[in-house]
Amino acid sequence: MHEWFQAGPSSTANKPLEAKSRNRLRFRMNSTVSTPIAFDYPQQDAAGTTCTAQAWAKTPPQLHGTEKADVTARIKKLLVEKDAALVAHYYVDGDIQDLALSTGGYVADSLEMARFGKNHSAKNLIVAGVRFMGESAKILNPEKRVFMPDLDATCSLDLGCDASDFAAFRALHPDRTVVVYANTSAAVKAQADWMVTSSCALAIVHQLKVEGKKILWAPDRHLGRYIQEQTGADMLLWNGACIVHDEFKAVELEMLKAAHPNAMVLVHPESPQAVVDLADVVGSTSAMIKAVVEGSATEYIVATDNGILHRMRQLAPNKKLIEAPTAGNSATCKSCAHCPWMAMNGLQGILNCLENASGEIFIDEPIRVEALGCIERMLDFTKNHPDLLAKAQHGFVKNIGAA
Ligand code: 13P
Ligand code: SF4
Repeated sequence: MHEWFQAGPSSTANKPLEAKSRNRLRFRMNSTVSTPIAFDYPQQDAAGTTCTAQAWAKTPPQLHGTEKADVTARIKKLLVEKDAALVAHYYVDGDIQDLALSTGGYVADSLEMARFGKNHSAKNLIVAGVRFMGESAKILNPEKRVFMPDLDATCSLDLGCDASDFAAFRALHPDRTVVVYANTSAAVKAQADWMVTSSCALAIVHQLKVEGKKILWAPDRHLGRYIQEQTGADMLLWNGACIVHDEFKAVELEMLKAAHPNAMVLVHPESPQAVVDLADVVGSTSAMIKAVVEGSATEYIVATDNGILHRMRQLAPNKKLIEAPTAGNSATCKSCAHCPWMAMNGLQGILNCLENASGEIFIDEPIRVEALGCIERMLDFTKNHPDLLAKAQHGFVKNIGAA
């Protein structure tokens, strides 16, 4: 038997991934506002599951038939027995999303995943997503035990933003308000004034601009550029990118649009500028789902991880969904628009969490306490300013009002 009901060693953080410390970043040493990207990093020397090929190799096999039914039934029973709730991101396997919803858990974007974990009464949380999502749940809920199907499920944005390099960047700009994307480690969040997700970044940065703040932003350069463009804020950007969204191709998207002239184009703002510029709606995963459900168009071209199509199909079965192109004449490599780390989540991994207490998240308490402030600030802002959030969505996000 494993020690499910004993308190975990909260002072012992999970070991950082080995390759993370090797991904050293370089200063470009140009910190003027006119050249907003001030930090650059060389091609990642990734190893182990921080390398996408190895992450794909670790993708669990799809379960079928009686094996799938048996594992699912055991998970359902254990979720009740262990007082655990399953919370999943829209990009994970559809079976896991369905299981979360059918057991009183939740499927959501990264903002709502954090909020769900904080508000739910369960003693234990199983987070099906990537590492920063599990860490955010633990930072917000130190009294809960938080588990993940595979702790190696990471994110290229998190990998590309080493905490000590980030500290050096910050030290160069002490006059700036530090805003970090949710897709960062607890050690980076511990250095931030604000955490934001793609659901609330526009509203929060707009408000900071109104207050006269200059911003230091990390790590996603595409999202940072988009927010800078929409708000006009003075932002200095870290040079990170999502390996999935970075692959969407504007030239091929234009050709696809021409072939489907009535389709509405939905783009996640982690995508490159040329792709964002072709969008009818730019928004978080939940905003994209809302656009499909509420939109009057019958066809939608979707530029985000294709795991989202499962929930879109369930909520809008009569709409035609077309995946945005990630390959073609202008492609440098082929991508499948699916995150290799999200793909590491499987039913067997969830069962292992429940049966063996495997995949538990630990964060050193001083880091957790430091990181808590920026997440709570975001949650308070989004709770207390629904008007500003709505204004950001309707005012800044292209054509969302028509969705
Ligand atoms: P959302 O917050 O929009 O769900 O995005 C999370 C993410 O990792 C997108 O790649
Ligand atoms: Fe990170 Fe991109 Fe995967 Fe989202 S899709 S978790 S941003 S690598």
